[in-house]
Amino acid sequence: MSVLNQKKIILGVCGGVAAYKSAELLRLLIKQGAQVQVVMTASAQQFIRSITFQALSTKEVRSSLFDLSAEAGMGHIELAQWADLILIAPATANTIAKITCGMADNLLTTLCLASKAPLLIAPAMNQQMWLNEATKNNINSLSQRDGLSICGPAIGEQACGDNGPGRMEEPEVLLSACQKTFTNQAEQTPLYNKRILITAGPTIEDIDPVRYLSNRSSGKMGYAIAQVAQKQGAKVTLISGPVALNAPSGVDLVTVRSAQEMHDAVFEEVTQADIFIATAAVADYRPIKLAQKKIKKNADTLIIELQKNPDILSDVAKLENKPLCVGFAAETDNLENYARNKLNNKNLDIIVANKVGADQGFEVDNNELHLFWKAQLWHKEGHKKEILQGQKKLPLASKKQLASQLLNEVALLYFN
Ligand code: C5P
Repeated sequence: MSVLNQKKIILGVCGGVAAYKSAELLRLLIKQGAQVQVVMTASAQQFIRSITFQALSTKEVRSSLFDLSAEAGMGHIELAQWADLILIAPATANTIAKITCGMADNLLTTLCLASKAPLLIAPAMNQQMWLNEATKNNINSLSQRDGLSICGPAIGEQACGDNGPGRMEEPEVLLSACQKTFTNQAEQTPLYNKRILITAGPTIEDIDPVRYLSNRSSGKMGYAIAQVAQKQGAKVTLISGPVALNAPSGVDLVTVRSAQEMHDAVFEEVTQADIFIATAAVADYRPIKLAQKKIKKNADTLIIELQKNPDILSDVAKLENKPLCVGFAAETDNLENYARNKLNNKNLDIIVANKVGADQGFEVDNNELHLFWKAQLWHKEGHKKEILQGQKKLPLASKKQLASQLLNEVALLYFN
């Protein structure tokens, strides 16, 4: 069966000569069993009539953001959520520029902004427009975006008589780029369809309306794990304290502030989870009393009484049907000892130890990890339980590489 079978694709068509090739592309997608909704920009309609796409897709072509009857059927936000992929072919320099800066001035750009689906762009324009610094910058910025891929342009003769880069890729090439988008979603990986719940970032414990207690966690490790897990086909929910990061595309983000809020959010989701990965640097204590007004600096010393926060990971690991529990141990010293104690005391399956210090662990992009695990294996015959202990060092690498290696270890140990 084709990987595109039953996949819901929005085919965005912009105003360029290559728009006539989009009809052939649409035909190929339909032949593969995809459900395609064509969305044309106003200028696309100057190049090709919507009736061609309507006949091929057997769906009314959408083109206006303010089409009341179309909106009554499936509103633009619903349409954005419906899509498994948005393919823009041809994508003009103008639409590329709009997507780069997040504009939403027509139906197609609005859908791009409102959708979590991967976006595949097939640029098509005059070679000088492609080589223009502004377009180059836009393409450069888009190519770094998560969930966005660019196919083409091809080099060759152009409709205007020029020769150079800017021709839209042929429909067959774009079809295989679409297929690749879906096969890249790694339906074969052991984590495919597994539900992974991740905590990330710091928590903030308010003292008064302007002060709080917190820590230096940037959230980078948790966000990297969420991104890699999602790419491997897992269904990821990320519960995050306040950080300066964007949620990876395709990941459900729940934002929280305090440890108690994080605890509540985790327990809303945890019964659904196969794996719980606690990367958050949860504040151990919070002020007993939250001052309603700003505390004035009258006395020479100030005592703020603190009470212990709930241990989210520990509470999850106590559940009768607990998910696989992966904890992190950020320590300045005595790494292995503290990590092993946490593995046992918190009843975890894996503990990931990492050193934190002046320029290590928190806030930085690279890290090194030391994994310790206690896998409980049940033999199929006789259901005999065996405890398998082990450890592995993951040497200095980017947090994204480490996230991938860590998830591979999780999959190897527990989901093969
Ligand atoms: O006990 P410690 O804070 O060092 O444990 C670290 C691990 O426990 C991390 O995985 C962290 O996310 C988790 N944790 C938690 N709730 C807390 C404290 C830590 O989930 N209140």
